[in-house]
Amino acid sequence: MPSHHFLKNHYGMDQSLFGKNAIVTGGALGIGKETSLLLAKKGAHVVVSDIKVDEGNSLVKEIQSFGGSCEFVTCDVSKEEDIIRLTDHLQNQNKRLDIMVNNAGIANKPTFMHKVSTEVWNKLILMDLTSVFWSQKYATKQMLSDRKGGSIINVASIAGLGASPSLGPYCVAKAGVIELSTTGALEVAKFGVRINAVCPGWTETAILDVAGERGKSAMEKNIPIGRLGKPFEVANLIVFLASDDSSFITGSVYRVDGGTRS
Ligand SMILES: NC(=O)c1ccc[n+]([C@@H]2O[C@H](COP(=O)([O-])OP(=O)(O)OC[C@H]3O[C@@H](n4cnc5c(N)ncnc54)[C@H](O)[C@@H]3O)[C@@H](O)[C@H]2O)c1
Repeated sequence: MPSHHFLKNHYGMDQSLFGKNAIVTGGALGIGKETSLLLAKKGAHVVVSDIKVDEGNSLVKEIQSFGGSCEFVTCDVSKEEDIIRLTDHLQNQNKRLDIMVNNAGIANKPTFMHKVSTEVWNKLILMDLTSVFWSQKYATKQMLSDRKGGSIINVASIAGLGASPSLGPYCVAKAGVIELSTTGALEVAKFGVRINAVCPGWTETAILDVAGERGKSAMEKNIPIGRLGKPFEVANLIVFLASDDSSFITGSVYRVDGGTRS
């Protein structure tokens, strides 16, 4: 187990992202919240977007309380027009989009593939794959428009890398996100736009509620490190990929999963 000291002191205090503007989808809670906090701690201006307005606004207050720069924009990622409005938001303020974190996502209720309804299938593909296609598309266009590049990080899942019984629609959507990232990355690599995918393993957030307590403890037993991940541990990887420290990395797929291999 990591020491308590390590868990308490996870934020870098450097300002290496000062002058950069970032958007985080699903930024109000969970992994998105920790990512927004860390981006802001490192000096970026952060646009937190979510459907949860109260949680988004309270995160903005939290970030502003330590001197961070942040604002909230409502965005339902299942609506293309919302994503266009979100990705245009910074340009409308004469700021450029440097970092786009496509994080919003939901899981399906555990169901075997042959019992999945068309309604559930369509919802998962829309929420977890088509939404990322839209965000990546419009963010890439923004980043190409002034030829200054940028970094796009798509939050996929280890579920998109292997088979996870009962999570079929989620697995398929996340596998699609991985392909969207790697293919999209190679198309724009020469123009300074980097696109990478992050694949978290099971991480302590509300999304795991669909599995119930028994499901969560089964997941935990399957993680070689012996515990679920913490949202900040995923945020650390996302923010590395957002920063210039990862300037030679594009089209890559990273696991952050405590060693999980099934
Ligand atoms: N927690 C895990 O174990 C785990 C594992 C692998 C991948 N992931 C991925 O990480 C990402 C973040 O999930 P999380 O674990 O932080 O879950 P979470 O439920 O804590 O957070 C998801 C966020 O997305 C927002 N959201 C939901 N529907 C939305 C919509 N239509 N439009 C905009 N925002 C919406 C929620 O309000 C919430 O703030 C997801 O893409 C998820 O699939 C999570």
